[in-house]
Amino acid sequence: MNNAVLRSAGVNQTFLGEVVAGLGQTPKALSPKWLYDHEGSKLFEQITHLPEYYPTRTEIDLLAHIVPSLSEALADRRLLIEYGSGSSRKTRLLLGAMPNLEHYVPMDVSGEFLRGVADGLSKQFPNVQVRPLVGDFNVSLKIPAELREQSSLGFFPGSTIGNLTPAKASEFLRLRRDELGEGGELLVGVDLRKPVDVLLAAYDDSAGVTAAFNRNLLTRINRELGGDFDLQRFAHEARWNDDFGRIEMHLVSRGEQTVRIAEHCFEFADGESIHSENSHKYRIGEFKLLARASRWDVRQLWTDDKQWFGVFLLG
Ligand code: SAH
Ligand code: TRP
Repeated sequence: MNNAVLRSAGVNQTFLGEVVAGLGQTPKALSPKWLYDHEGSKLFEQITHLPEYYPTRTEIDLLAHIVPSLSEALADRRLLIEYGSGSSRKTRLLLGAMPNLEHYVPMDVSGEFLRGVADGLSKQFPNVQVRPLVGDFNVSLKIPAELREQSSLGFFPGSTIGNLTPAKASEFLRLRRDELGEGGELLVGVDLRKPVDVLLAAYDDSAGVTAAFNRNLLTRINRELGGDFDLQRFAHEARWNDDFGRIEMHLVSRGEQTVRIAEHCFEFADGESIHSENSHKYRIGEFKLLARASRWDVRQLWTDDKQWFGVFLLG
């Protein structure tokens, strides 16, 4: 039997392989990209509207202020690539200020959601060719040859860079250096250090949307991989890890239990967790060092009054 036959059985072998490896290790951990199926993308969009979730509105206010001061840089650009574009809500602010833009490439792992957003954007911005790309931004993207040119801008908002470890974030930035070419620039949104109580509330909201988002990972494993997770027996938990300067998301086992996924069994001790996501909170100086170590110069930096969020223009 070859791979093609196995795949046609409908199980995503990459997903299964990563889940089996991740739950087989100690401590148990899963890659955050699996949080974003269609339901996950919709839940994340709800998170961005929550009162406790300060990053989205802080970054949107910053971008609204930045765009007019960037008008010259934006006016020249003909290609815009956005990494982990989700709803592309913030991008609309840029698109309105890019009169010479020819192509917008929103890229994301969440394919169905991406296609829906891209259709809407094509209608709203008829002069721009919207070319959605489904994929993983941890590898080099296959940008069609006719789109590769000097005047490209990369956009990486939402502090999605904080979801990568600093080593992976550095790799990400290096990949983009080559992809965006000689004159390319990259606009990156980075969540900054702030009081821990503010952070914990943002990642464990009172309406329980973040908890639902985290647990959706288990729903997805049950549906796509034939798992038997009992959702009631896993609690959502956000923890501040001071050593690494990051919020961690965990799914914590309530009691001892065994979970089956296809033909695999996993034992959970009471209180044992699956580590499902990190969200690193940088100091301004730390992020500048990371960018420089990854072949970028920091051209400009904007922050809000409280210095809760930073938008960095790298070139
Ligand atoms: N840019 C939007 C969404 C941020 S949420 C905003 O600022 O609001 C992070 C987005 O990155 C999600 O849409 C998710 O599907 C996508 N994503 C997460 N991991 C990814 C990966 N490895 N490759 C590509 N996209 C990824
Ligand atoms: N980039 C977002 C962040 O770190 C992703 C995110 C927001 C997230 N809320 C979440 C990821 C909850 C997992 C769970 O803020």
